[in-house]
Amino acid sequence: MAHTHTDAEEPTRRDFLYIATGAVAAVGAAAALWPFIDQMNPDAGVQALASIEVDLSAVEVGQAITVMWRGKPVFIRHRTEGEIQEADEVPLSDLPDPVARNENVAADAPATDANRAEKPEFLIMIGICTHLGCVPLGESGDYDGWFCPCHGSHYDTAGRIRRGPAPRNLDVPVYAYTSDTTVQIG
Ligand code: FES
Repeated sequence: MAHTHTDAEEPTRRDFLYIATGAVAAVGAAAALWPFIDQMNPDAGVQALASIEVDLSAVEVGQAITVMWRGKPVFIRHRTEGEIQEADEVPLSDLPDPVARNENVAADAPATDANRAEKPEFLIMIGICTHLGCVPLGESGDYDGWFCPCHGSHYDTAGRIRRGPAPRNLDVPVYAYTSDTTVQIG
């Protein structure tokens, strides 16, 4: 039968498939790099896609949640009256970083509590230590806010650096309330 002839050619065909598969794998690896590169240079379209909406209605006073946004942890803390008051009473002269670091206000706005949180009860910020990038622990440290155990940075109840090697307050991302209890981040 003609099969004899086909069988004889089979090794060649296998070689071809093997090479073709190798080529596809290489293309696949190149394509996988793109999302990563895009994330480092996000254009407007990517930024819009990377927005998230968070329902805050279930976050009780004194509770905090962490949501992931563009691969980063974002802390959302429903602050108590005491925490808000504590942050509010700190003189700006006590702050190692007197700048708000809030993308929603002017770049040089002072780090008052009001400039750190649009609604005082909800403090929203990127949960990455500004020193070398560890994730700080909540309700910890000497200022009742966050503590980064990596090298001992203490943040207060407004997420402002108060002591330790971290050079800046925790960053507040762009966000907007879309309802009383819903916030869009990004
Ligand atoms: S990374 Fe937080 S103190 Fe160094």
